[in-house]
Amino acid sequence: MRGAQLSDGHLWLHFTRTSDWRGDAPNVPVLERGEGCYVWDANGTRYLDGLSALFCVQVGYGRPEMPAAAEAQMRKLPFATNWGTAHQPAIDLAAALTERFPGDLDHAFFVNSGSEAVESALKLARQYHAANGQPNRYKVVSRNFAYHGTTLGALGVTGLAGARTPFEPLAPGMFHAPNTNEYRCQTSLHCPPCDLTCAMAIERIIVAEGPETVSAVFVEPVQNAGGCFTPPPGYLQRIREICDRYGVLMVSDEVICGFGRLGRWTGAERYGYLPDIITFAKGVTSAYAPLAGMLFRRHIGDALATGRASMFVHGATWGGHPVSCAVALANIGVFESEDVLGNVQRNEVWLGEQLHELMARHEIVGDVRGTGYFWALELVADRERKVMFTNEQAEDLLRGFLSARLLELGLIARADDRDEPVIQISPPLVADREVLGELVGILDQVLGEAQKRMRH
Ligand SMILES: Cc1ncc(COP(=O)(O)O)c(C=O)c1O
Repeated sequence: MRGAQLSDGHLWLHFTRTSDWRGDAPNVPVLERGEGCYVWDANGTRYLDGLSALFCVQVGYGRPEMPAAAEAQMRKLPFATNWGTAHQPAIDLAAALTERFPGDLDHAFFVNSGSEAVESALKLARQYHAANGQPNRYKVVSRNFAYHGTTLGALGVTGLAGARTPFEPLAPGMFHAPNTNEYRCQTSLHCPPCDLTCAMAIERIIVAEGPETVSAVFVEPVQNAGGCFTPPPGYLQRIREICDRYGVLMVSDEVICGFGRLGRWTGAERYGYLPDIITFAKGVTSAYAPLAGMLFRRHIGDALATGRASMFVHGATWGGHPVSCAVALANIGVFESEDVLGNVQRNEVWLGEQLHELMARHEIVGDVRGTGYFWALELVADRERKVMFTNEQAEDLLRGFLSARLLELGLIARADDRDEPVIQISPPLVADREVLGELVGILDQVLGEAQKRMRH
């Protein structure tokens, strides 16, 4: 099989147009190795990874610590389950996470992907309510355009029509409220500044559906899809109050925002609220091995641990694989020995300023939003009047130009149009100002070119 090409079509890609990789001129890089914040493709071309692969290579590529931990664990005990047995790496990781996550988020349950983590939270919430004598609480509220995964339960929580529609009907009882898009607020005439009408919209759904039927509200601390919608001041606290008022669980989906993306271990810590469940994945191992899971609070653990026959009726063979847990522990070690969170905290304001300077220079940028190492630039046809590009223009801009041009100039970023067109950046958390400056410099050039192209 040596010499097989991506264009042969044996390997099928995720969420990637077939026209991008099958046929005579595939334009998807085949990546071969990585070092620090950079990756190289099979032709030896170097790219700055401005997306940390997919929001996950927190401590960068080529580190010795995680391979060493993986090898040691593979030699000692390559596998044991957390299903009827347990193993030390999972026990140690659960303890390490509970120490670093806020409040009484004291219990950890491990799976393999973010979607599975969301599935697990859906099921945990249902079982919690049933254990409290409320088995009819099954409905879930999340937000428009939010991405919470692709398996059929998680897809119900996802609020992206393009991802959902081909698979409908999905599980019943999934509702989507407006998100916190302050640039194009659709709920309040007075925004900005936000008057939290968007939070009240969640409450209205709960009340309309009957609180005794609602299980959970899912929110990301900063919503990725649509382009880094940050929470307005008091928004997440208001969601917490609403959940408490109606006995609904609050799930903070931190598959992207956890593990330093916002400069703290969790988005909950960053914004000062305590959810009932935090889901996580990606950055827990800095992507050196697949691992995901959820941490949940004591009252949930207590409700599920009553009676001899009690158990969480959920499991996965690989959930909390010992090699992945050992890798996650090594990753936490790197975070702490190199003050990775401190690096993000020291540079995030500076990075935001650089991106705002890009906006000042390029009229095509209508909005810059984000925090930590998690930012988006929304592209507009007319900044003055916030006019969006037509679908054809957006297609031409993103697929006809930006995606390829960014790669040509050696930057992996995301040109995304799941809502309005945005360029998303999410560099490794170890990136210093030199690397960030290089990233901003490439964006500067590409935005200038994009502006000229769209003018014509
Ligand atoms: C917030 C959020 N939840 C869930 C998921 C699903 O994670 P996975 O792709 O690991 O299934 C993602 C993936 O990007 C995500 O961003």
